[in-house]
Amino acid sequence: MAHPEIHPDRVPRHVAIIMDGNGRWAVERGLERNAGHREGIESVRAVIRACRDYGVEILTLYAFSIENWNRPRGEVSELMRLLEEYLETEIDEVMEHGARVRTIGRIDRLPPSTRRAVEGAIRRTADNTGMQLVFALSYGGRAEIVDAARRLARDAELGKIDPEGLDEKAFAAYLYAPDLPDPDLLIRTGAEQRVSNFLLWQIAYTELHLSDRMWPEFRRAEFEAAILDYQRRERRFGLTSEQVRQGDRSREKRTTR
Ligand code: FPP
Repeated sequence: MAHPEIHPDRVPRHVAIIMDGNGRWAVERGLERNAGHREGIESVRAVIRACRDYGVEILTLYAFSIENWNRPRGEVSELMRLLEEYLETEIDEVMEHGARVRTIGRIDRLPPSTRRAVEGAIRRTADNTGMQLVFALSYGGRAEIVDAARRLARDAELGKIDPEGLDEKAFAAYLYAPDLPDPDLLIRTGAEQRVSNFLLWQIAYTELHLSDRMWPEFRRAEFEAAILDYQRRERRFGLTSEQVRQGDRSREKRTTR
């Protein structure tokens, strides 16, 4: 059921989430950290359902950062295993949602079995036209910018682009998923106030919602609270409030004409 205060016309189009706090959630309960990751999957499922219900078009989940490779080997392999299990068991529900799975990140570093699971999910959902579900895997914001710069330099060498003509739009075309709009809302759970190398280029004007909940506790109600928080913001993109209101009024005039 939809939350009565959520305005259906002002739902963020693209939501990105830093899912933090799995380990602490588990340790606080005397469990192993991996139990937190497992419980975190329930939150992934709940948030995907909520996004579908509210019409969020793109959900980007920070599932494994490039820095996460430095975690203890056992934890890394359990995360990879969970990811594979998730992609294999949840894909039916993802199909029912009509969602399309994509990834951003240095996927070539994933173990072969994880890569196969990821590629299988991408293939199976490729023709879906509903929500886009983007998993950031082996992802780093700086690495993404470096990868873009590398490809761009190669194109410049080949004479395909003129460095003098380079602008933000042309640069952004080299990022991992250039067709996606920037996130409107970035949620971070786990009571931390950092960006942690996530979507550094894309979040220039993104609204932030920082939640004290650990990720395994972040379910539909918490997601709705984040959307309500977002809907209370005024997005100015560097303009004044007056300019934003004038822009709204002229847009209204255009659409009522
Ligand atoms: C951060 O918690 C979370 C992660 C490193 C991985 C997120 C993974 C999942 C939610 C499960 C698998 C994902 C999918 C998409 C199926 P943390 O371990 O850093 O927590 P802490 O800060 O409390 O230690």
